[in-house]
Amino acid sequence: EKGGFDSFMEKEIHEQPAAVRDTLLGRLDEKGNLTLDELKIDDSVLRSINKIIVVACGTAAYAGHVARYAIEHWCRIPTEVELAHEFRYRDPIVDEKTLVVALSQSGETMDTLMAVRHAQEQGAKVVSICNTNGSTLPREADAALYTHAGPEIAVASTKAFLSQIAAAYLLGLYLAQLRGNMYKDEVRGILQELQQMPEKIQAVIDGEQQVKDLGTSMKDAKSVLFLGRHVGFPVALEGALKLKEIAYLHAEGFAAGELKHGPIALVEEGQPIFVIVPSPNGRDSLHAKVVSTIQEVRARGAVTIVIAEEGDTAVEEHADHIIRIPASPSLLQPLLATVPLQIFSCAVAHAKGYDVDQPRNLAKSVTVE
Ligand code: F6R
Repeated sequence: EKGGFDSFMEKEIHEQPAAVRDTLLGRLDEKGNLTLDELKIDDSVLRSINKIIVVACGTAAYAGHVARYAIEHWCRIPTEVELAHEFRYRDPIVDEKTLVVALSQSGETMDTLMAVRHAQEQGAKVVSICNTNGSTLPREADAALYTHAGPEIAVASTKAFLSQIAAAYLLGLYLAQLRGNMYKDEVRGILQELQQMPEKIQAVIDGEQQVKDLGTSMKDAKSVLFLGRHVGFPVALEGALKLKEIAYLHAEGFAAGELKHGPIALVEEGQPIFVIVPSPNGRDSLHAKVVSTIQEVRARGAVTIVIAEEGDTAVEEHADHIIRIPASPSLLQPLLATVPLQIFSCAVAHAKGYDVDQPRNLAKSVTVE
């Protein structure tokens, strides 16, 4: 049943190219337009939306953070991400012009359901992005966009995360097309890039041995830090969460720019730090800034594990270890950069002899508030 793997988590990591491919499948109509037939909310309503709030918990909330960067960039709609259990307690400003996007693998997370009910009471429309057919969340939402990751057995989410991100990209592109923020050709161009992602994810998985060896060699680390910027920031948060969950290791993710505002004081000799490096071909000077962050932490004794695009030579002199990922458009990079972090935490947990599929104290779906 584990398909020859030691754990469901490993099996599910390997299923990610298919999970993303299946989530993207069949989205172009005969005219080459992106279609989301399931999105049963009137186009006129979707055109009138002036705010999007993404609600979710845990890993799904990190997918929401990635979604936010993409949706704001493509649709120019102000987008917030809120942990579902915090949402209603701040008396959020929600009305008929608010679109709430609820992300959930299980569709049964009580915190997320309560946030959705609260939003609906205020008149908001709710789209759910969910992996479980017929679960409560898609039934209660105004529209359901399914991820097609297949059942996720391991408690720690992997393939559901990547497919949530893929589905959120589709939603963003659809809204951009509908609202006229993007031309059909532009949407199609990004869709083509998206369609190449499963193959690129596979290429990252094919390089897993290097990451596994690294995980095994770092099993006695006391803490691991993760740094990223832009969409690399939620990837850093997700990398840290995976390590806490299954390897019971202290881990924190930071926005790389925040380092000098405090966290850099943590860095001492031998501290392992993962750094997710944006594409050198991306916008602005982000790449150069992240490279200088690597330099700064290394100068203070950190052991740097750098996740960088193939061909990015600028990182080489500052990295103790380099994990290569294929080049991709900046916004799509989380689909690649997350994968080594999943493999790493799985390897650390294995090396420590833990049950990676059933980590202590955790349940696969949290059906109480
Ligand atoms: C982390 C993990 C949890 C879930 C969270 C939300 O690996 O699995 O953080 O992501 O409990 O669960 P769903 O997506 O079912 O709402």
